Amino acid sequence: MEGKKVLVVGGGGRCHAIVDALARSPQVGRIYCAPGNAGIAAQAECVAIGDTDVESLKRFALDNGIDLTVVGPEAALAAGIVDVFRAAGLKIFGHTKDAARIETSKEFAKELMQRHGIPTASYRSFSDYGEALAYVSGRPFPAVLKYDGLAAGKGVVIAETREEADAALRDMLLDGSFGGGRVVVEDYLEGPEFSFMCFVDGERLYPMPLAQDHKRAFDGDKGPNTGGMGAYTRLPFITEEDRSFAFERIMVPTAKAMAEEGCPLSGVLYGGLMKTRDGVKVIEFNARFGDPETEVVLPLLESDICEIFSNIAEHRPVAEVRWSDDATLGIVLASKGYPGHYEKGFPIRGLERVEGRLYHMGTARRDGETVTAGGRVMIAVGRGRTLAEAHEVAMRDAGRIECDNLFHRSDIGHRAFEK
Ligand code: AMP
Ligand code: GLY
Repeated sequence: MEGKKVLVVGGGGRCHAIVDALARSPQVGRIYCAPGNAGIAAQAECVAIGDTDVESLKRFALDNGIDLTVVGPEAALAAGIVDVFRAAGLKIFGHTKDAARIETSKEFAKELMQRHGIPTASYRSFSDYGEALAYVSGRPFPAVLKYDGLAAGKGVVIAETREEADAALRDMLLDGSFGGGRVVVEDYLEGPEFSFMCFVDGERLYPMPLAQDHKRAFDGDKGPNTGGMGAYTRLPFITEEDRSFAFERIMVPTAKAMAEEGCPLSGVLYGGLMKTRDGVKVIEFNARFGDPETEVVLPLLESDICEIFSNIAEHRPVAEVRWSDDATLGIVLASKGYPGHYEKGFPIRGLERVEGRLYHMGTARRDGETVTAGGRVMIAVGRGRTLAEAHEVAMRDAGRIECDNLFHRSDIGHRAFEK
């Protein structure tokens, strides 16, 4: 029998890791990726359709006899890709638009957690600037302000002073640079953060290994927040007890709550969790694979990912999801200046000398060469029996990439080494 035709929607490092995992599946014949990138092109046929152009994606899937579509970014879920594909009789892995609200609406997620007793910071939500400011002013700082809606990671402000809170609230509720709407104000929590992703279908959950990303641009967790400068698996500060609490008291009840409320999950549930003095709590949920967590987690998957995606897309149980107990660690190579202004189009050489995995995040082909085409450009992922081994491989590989305009952190995983 001919292998399956699979379409992956998206184009960053996360999608490269998904394509790479699919390429290892004996069931998969041909992989397409829309829009993909220069690295993905080595393993999949890239199709020039944007990830939220749902109608064109549907047409492509129908015209090309796609057997299964896998959705990477939340923007495509929020655009209703799953609803549209299902209505057209196409098989797709990802949540409906309704279920994706667990990520796309902070207020929906907070209300759900409150109704179902899922541990998270207490909160109030406001649409009126004056009321929000009065509430924040009467409470201890720092104040955590979250714009309600998709804000590509930019919607959270940790205000240290009343002035900072005022400026943020004006921006979110008055000036309309976010488009008006609501703001969730929540208690400030402290402790190490970690990411817990599960494959989920209704009330069935299949946990993935825990990971931690590093949001700040520079070593020592200094500099501005970014989309993530690296990630690793094997977190020594999270005990088995913490993990099982997170699974039994957070991930499972959340899936159950969503099913009970008529918007069952089907895809990936990402818990952005924090180990506080009072136990593990939810900082946020995402309705998709994390980036760059996926790039370090999926290489450890020993089961057939196509089987997992297909079964979940058809609401059938997955027989087994097996993971290697190796450690992985990924170092992001980013354009100088990122997350602020940066230039593109610098040639990247030395790619063939890399030993571990190398996922492209923002690259393009120009005159037969691979060039930088984004803020985060690639991620070098090392693997080993220990995290130290994985770090060594990733650092060596990061050093082998020759490009005049890239920088990377050298302390990814430091919390694990400091122990
Ligand atoms: P979010 O987009 O909700 O994940 O927030 C982005 C980052 O803001 C998180 O990764 C945390 O580091 C921080 N953050 C969010 N909520 C809180 C909170 N309640 N207390 C402390 N830090 C928070
Ligand atoms: N690494 C954080 C995220 O994917 O949202």
